[in-house]
Amino acid sequence: MEPRLPSLDELIVAFDKGLRTVFAQAQSLRATPGRDLPEADMTEEQRRLSAALMRVNHTGEICVQALYQGQALTAGNPGAKAALEQAAREETEHLAWTEGRIDELGGRKSLLNPVWYAGSFAIGALAGLAGNRWNLGFLAETEYQVVAHLDRHLQRLPEEDARSRAIVESMKEDEARHATSAAVHGAAELPEPAKAAMRLSSKVMTETAFWI
Ligand SMILES: [Fe+2]
Ligand SMILES: [Fe+2]
Repeated sequence: MEPRLPSLDELIVAFDKGLRTVFAQAQSLRATPGRDLPEADMTEEQRRLSAALMRVNHTGEICVQALYQGQALTAGNPGAKAALEQAAREETEHLAWTEGRIDELGGRKSLLNPVWYAGSFAIGALAGLAGNRWNLGFLAETEYQVVAHLDRHLQRLPEEDARSRAIVESMKEDEARHATSAAVHGAAELPEPAKAAMRLSSKVMTETAFWI
């Protein structure tokens, strides 16, 4: 099936989903990874660092959620669409986990989340219109980059903060699976300039969300 333009009804539903993603509390079916681990005895500085890194990860999940929703709106292939929706549900769990951890650490979510959501949604919808191979290629590349990003965070998170680390580890496993699933469904390999542009835009997002 070819990519298609969404109906007005679908746009309204998508808008509503977006509002809920950004403003409502996300729910998780799976238990939060590491929830049985004891809270670490961290310095104030370590706690602030953990909260900032988890804020970045939460914003990343907002963006990925928006990409998936944007793509699901315009992607034509029903098989890929089901896979995208399944992955988007797991991203919602990541949202819930990171959000819960930010609360535990006494941090706050990024104030710019509505902006990141809107931008990522538009990019996702455009990728969906580019046809399935490119759409999935974009998705796979996003997930590869998120795995690399989470690896860097595992190096930066305080060693003591086992609860945050357990969440990031589990997310990393899920993201790697999402990438594989996109590849299985026929993802194209993106050209290097596209990959570089994606790395640059996620760098802008992650560095901004660390502070704001
Ligand atoms: Fe995720
Ligand atoms: Fe993912």
